[in-house]
Amino acid sequence: MRVNLKRNRTLLVDGPSSITLISGSASALGSKLREGCRVIVRNGKRLPVEAEEDSVLDLRLGEGASFSEIEGSAIPESWRRAFDRILAVQGYVSVMVMGGVDSGKTSFCIYLANIAVNEERRVAIIDGDVGQSEIGPPTTVSIARISKPIIDLFSLKAESMRFVGVTSPSRAPDKALDALKRLRDKSLEMNVNMLIINTDGWINGEGALEYRVETANIFSPDIIVAIQDGEELKHILDRIRDGMIIQVKPPRTVKRRSRDVRRALRELSYRKYLKDAKIQCYPLGWMRIEGLPPDKYDLIRRLREKAKMGRTETEDLSSFGEAYSKLKEMENMLVGLQDENEEFIGIGILCNIDPSRHIIRVYTPVKRRVHSIMVGQIKLDRHGCEILQDERVCGRAGA
Ligand SMILES: Nc1ncnc2c1ncn2[C@@H]1O[C@H](COP(=O)(O)OP(=O)(O)OP(=O)(O)O)[C@@H](O)[C@H]1O
Ligand SMILES: [Mg+2]
Repeated sequence: MRVNLKRNRTLLVDGPSSITLISGSASALGSKLREGCRVIVRNGKRLPVEAEEDSVLDLRLGEGASFSEIEGSAIPESWRRAFDRILAVQGYVSVMVMGGVDSGKTSFCIYLANIAVNEERRVAIIDGDVGQSEIGPPTTVSIARISKPIIDLFSLKAESMRFVGVTSPSRAPDKALDALKRLRDKSLEMNVNMLIINTDGWINGEGALEYRVETANIFSPDIIVAIQDGEELKHILDRIRDGMIIQVKPPRTVKRRSRDVRRALRELSYRKYLKDAKIQCYPLGWMRIEGLPPDKYDLIRRLREKAKMGRTETEDLSSFGEAYSKLKEMENMLVGLQDENEEFIGIGILCNIDPSRHIIRVYTPVKRRVHSIMVGQIKLDRHGCEILQDERVCGRAGA
């Protein structure tokens, strides 16, 4: 469908859809659209496309997609002032972006990165949101360099990823903080002069307060961008000692996503990272296994010791139903696989632990040598659907 977009007007395009600039001049989140190049808007996402000149766009709308037009820009003035202040900093600058759910955090990071890249800064971004991770699969945090303008973090290639194994940091704050520390260390080796830290929207409650303050302590950012309408972040900002705080407003036109849509987006992503997966068998005795639930720890340790000695525990287990059911409970758990340098190399689904053959079976696309397996706290079926309380709850991710 052809759409004429007049100068200084903005098209809000909801995915799943694609946009191609036919003529004129338009940009999205600070990234200029190139004539004839198709831009994809994923399901559950909205892209604001601003016309700098009268433009013609070709829109392709998938099922459930839509679009609308507004006068002027969808980017709040406070964002532009913040960009100016951040870019005025000479030399290295680290910027942490905070806000509640659907406040525009990721879009702010993308826009800032785009302007900085256009000014020839060397930019890296940390995707610190385990629930709606865009650079890596859900349950991970990651870091990537940005060398040209983007419209979506999804298109970036992670230079390092860490597996946290949960979709909300509230379920494993220490693990998430440890993963972020590793990425901070990585960023120091990357020769960048702008580090942007994107965060998740967990801001309410005592746990969130501590987590946010700790995150700020890890990075000691030069600038904290607080996206808030009122005083949603005040309790956190009051506790942060270092760094300049810049307050900005959430965009009025932001698209809110329900829990179901968020889950559906995660499931799409799991599927992407499980593509071409096969069952791989790893030796139980020689594989490091981390993140075991406390009630399984002793059992697995015993099985691994026996495996190392080449002994089976089949008989003991068959006469000991509880151990069997504990192993069964681990089936379908999401796992993260690491190489010998403790670098995350992919996700998998734990199929089973076979004490008689001394192996652990994992459904994964990873073909490289695996050194350690980190057990996550969520379960997935082979279609990438999250399993809650023994119930299959596949969102209609393809819709
Ligand atoms: N100014 C804007 N106009 C229209 N849509 C926007 C604007 N800013 C962001 N969006 C869209 O709104 C949705 C939510 O924005 P975004 O993902 O940036 O928020 P977030 O705070 O990072 O969300 P989350 O809490 O899920 O991490 C996205 O689909 C995004 O593309
Ligand atoms: Mg986000």
